[in-house]
Amino acid sequence: MPEFSIRLAREKDLPALSRFAAPIMASLKFYNEESTKKNIKEISQKELKGSLKWNRNNVIMAVANDGKIIGLGMHYLSSGHVDWLEWLLIDKNFRRKGLGRALVNYAIRNAKMRGGHKVWCDSNPRNKPAVKFFTGMGFRKVGILKKHDFCQDEILWEKQI
Ligand SMILES: CC(C)(COP(=O)(O)OP(=O)(O)OC[C@H]1O[C@@H](n2cnc3c(N)ncnc32)[C@H](O)[C@@H]1OP(=O)(O)O)[C@@H](O)C(=O)NCCC(=O)NCCS
Repeated sequence: MPEFSIRLAREKDLPALSRFAAPIMASLKFYNEESTKKNIKEISQKELKGSLKWNRNNVIMAVANDGKIIGLGMHYLSSGHVDWLEWLLIDKNFRRKGLGRALVNYAIRNAKMRGGHKVWCDSNPRNKPAVKFFTGMGFRKVGILKKHDFCQDEILWEKQI
């Protein structure tokens, strides 16, 4: 039996999702202070609610068999059918178990069902696990955006789906 399941988040999940995500976000050392503040705000209950209101498919969660939240993914399909992967956060104790891969594949299936033909995202160049992860998932490194958000470099990734 799999150790976890993946499903769309509902409004009642948002307080717990936000409590799950905030410490992970705060622990990411790749980002500067200003950017970390913005990132934590982005996964606040209010912002997550806004994402769900926009489209009920936008927030995906992974839940362990005991009910504990262990993963969060956010994505947005544009009117041009391109899906932006916003955040992917896995509980430290559940990494390297295929959870990130499963969440991204769920988002891709979800986007494809709604007409998406491509997925894209960014990651911090210092985030080596993320670089390995997106390369392994078949994303193409488009290039590096120099001094991007909050003056930090970002790798831009894309994948046809
Ligand atoms: C990056 C992250 C999402 C990966 O999630 P995960 O559930 O651990 O990834 P998976 O188990 O699905 O790994 C899939 C593949 O990615 C690669 N990979 C993932 N983490 C890796 C690591 N730390 N080192 C090397 N390769 C890694 C491997 O090829 C792995 O396959 P394998 O385990 O069979 O070798 C996770 O480390 C995380 O939440 N990090 C903190 C938040 C973050 O940086 N998010 C990404 C930017 S938004």
